[in-house]
Amino acid sequence: MNILILGGGGREHSLAWAALQNPKCDVLIVAPGNAGIAEIATCADLDINDGAAVVAFAEEHAIDFVIVGPEAPLAAGVSDELRVAGFLVFGPSQAAAELEASKGFTKEVCDAANAPTAAWARFNDPESAKAYIRAQGAPIVVKADGLAAGKGVVVAMSKVEALDAIDNMFGGAFGAAGAEVVIEEFMDGEEASFFVLCDGLDALPIGTAQDHKRVGEGDTGPNTGGMGAYSPAPVLSDTVAARTMEEIIRPTLAEMVRRGTPYQGVLYAGLMIKDGAPRLVEYNVRFGDPECQILMMRLGAQAFDLIHACAEGRLADAQVTWADDHAITVVLAAKGYPGNYEKGSEIKGLSGLDEDSFRMVFHAGTTRDGDSVLATGGRVLNVTARAATLEAARAAAYADVDAIDWPGGFCRRDIGWRTLSD
Ligand code: AMP
Ligand code: GLY
Repeated sequence: MNILILGGGGREHSLAWAALQNPKCDVLIVAPGNAGIAEIATCADLDINDGAAVVAFAEEHAIDFVIVGPEAPLAAGVSDELRVAGFLVFGPSQAAAELEASKGFTKEVCDAANAPTAAWARFNDPESAKAYIRAQGAPIVVKADGLAAGKGVVVAMSKVEALDAIDNMFGGAFGAAGAEVVIEEFMDGEEASFFVLCDGLDALPIGTAQDHKRVGEGDTGPNTGGMGAYSPAPVLSDTVAARTMEEIIRPTLAEMVRRGTPYQGVLYAGLMIKDGAPRLVEYNVRFGDPECQILMMRLGAQAFDLIHACAEGRLADAQVTWADDHAITVVLAAKGYPGNYEKGSEIKGLSGLDEDSFRMVFHAGTTRDGDSVLATGGRVLNVTARAATLEAARAAAYADVDAIDWPGGFCRRDIGWRTLSD
């Protein structure tokens, strides 16, 4: 099979790595890819948000199957254009991708599906939004409706903070994404992520994880795209996972079918769990990054079969073979991230690392310059390990972190703390 993966982050490196373990994979092209991906697959320079360009590329390279990594091409309708042209695609339609692209849409779907989530209201003028905040009080959560690269959410502990957030969002801080805001009840509890493959009505859970969104140790400082993650997440026990399927995921999928926009792809549910009861924080219509890296490491060669079965609508017969293992990934980021950071610093020590099905360094923002690997992004490397216990996986990952020589980078040293300190 000739496979095209769209994207160029650590998520796509891990998807490529998993696909290559599967004998079905003959040719693998990743667009745009990065320096790590270039070591295992062909990288192609392609505007992945331009559906016509992606279709033309897929035709030219006799692609059999396209896996879409990030949300932007999904929200832009690239999967629809590929399907119209006759390609097999993993990833939802533009209409179904609204589950990530519009927070208001997700809330409407949850209400129709009777799925537990925070109480909410939607506003498109600042004065009525502020009146609502004054009436509700704090803590309260203010969200830009559209895609804002994970930065459009303010969890306000005081009314003043919430009112400021309204001024910011309607003042254009998030462009068109902030023209409408959703204001939500603050939910208390422990957060975890749940990943489910869906092909319309059938759904198959493929793992749980906990991310570390803040840049600093002890969950301090500004939010990032994620500084590290581990799987499984103990708070998402089998019982909580079963409740999530029954109360949240299946009703959502049924509502999407009822609307005529069935959901196909991976559905990533961000949950707030309190006293064993899950409530939905948000949906994403793609794998998490860096959560994908640990899921791929735990699933190994079967990951590609599952993704392929999902795209072909064969999930009813699919099964996950679970190993009793744990995986962790530590993000190395450029100093200054998530604010301003320098690009172009050299990373050494990568070639000396042992890489196998237990230890991998997935690349995110890297490029190759001759024999050197240079940092080009904010989040740059995902140092990933798998072992029988989370402690052992963590020790292996940090041993590799310490063997990488990159003075321009930093990481959190406490990935996994929530579970390891219990
Ligand atoms: P989102 O982009 O919707 O995932 O929100 C980003 C983060 O804000 C989440 O991961 C939560 O930590 C927090 N958050 C969002 N909505 C709520 C809520 N209703 N109550 C408490 N925390 C929330
Ligand atoms: N790591 C969080 C995300 O991918 O949205």
